[in-house]
Amino acid sequence: MIDGFEGCGLKITATNTVFADGVAGADVMVIGEAPGADEDRQGKPFVGVSGQLLDRMLASIGLSRTESVYITNILPWRPPGNRQPTPQEIATCIPFVERHIELAAPKVLMFAGGTSAKSLMGRKEGITRLRGTWMDWPQPNAGGAIPALATYHPAYLLRSPGQKSSAWKDLLSLRRRLDEVVKNG
Ligand code: URA
Repeated sequence: MIDGFEGCGLKITATNTVFADGVAGADVMVIGEAPGADEDRQGKPFVGVSGQLLDRMLASIGLSRTESVYITNILPWRPPGNRQPTPQEIATCIPFVERHIELAAPKVLMFAGGTSAKSLMGRKEGITRLRGTWMDWPQPNAGGAIPALATYHPAYLLRSPGQKSSAWKDLLSLRRRLDEVVKNG
């Protein structure tokens, strides 16, 4: 388990390893960036103010972490002072995230924010370009691809509420795609 991995320096300054929350094996898996102070304290992803907004966003399309969503981050440890994770830190942790997704085997992925979308898809564009268009996440160690949609990070939406209408479109698109894949198996 990642908790026993000593190859990333962020573990030294973190209080807890933040692995996942929600329903393991759910059809929808949300991938954020990194734990903040609240998440580090509680050992769970998305439990602070941006997590509360994420919960409301999911609820708006009938989803919840108690019933239908599994949640994790690119990094399981909080970067000190919530600084941006370095490319090296991301590169060190990404194989764990990839395997985590493959084992959780969701039917659709939602990337919350640019860090998660860029690092999992190997893309350089910013979130404004990446959001809203379905991508295929190729499972590096397993067969087939998982449909993936990037949207704005809830922390960004709290700072820029004018972008909520775009996020709402993304959520509706997620709901539609989920209904399709569930129906068609
Ligand atoms: N932001 C994230 O990307 N992940 C969390 O768990 C909390 C805030």
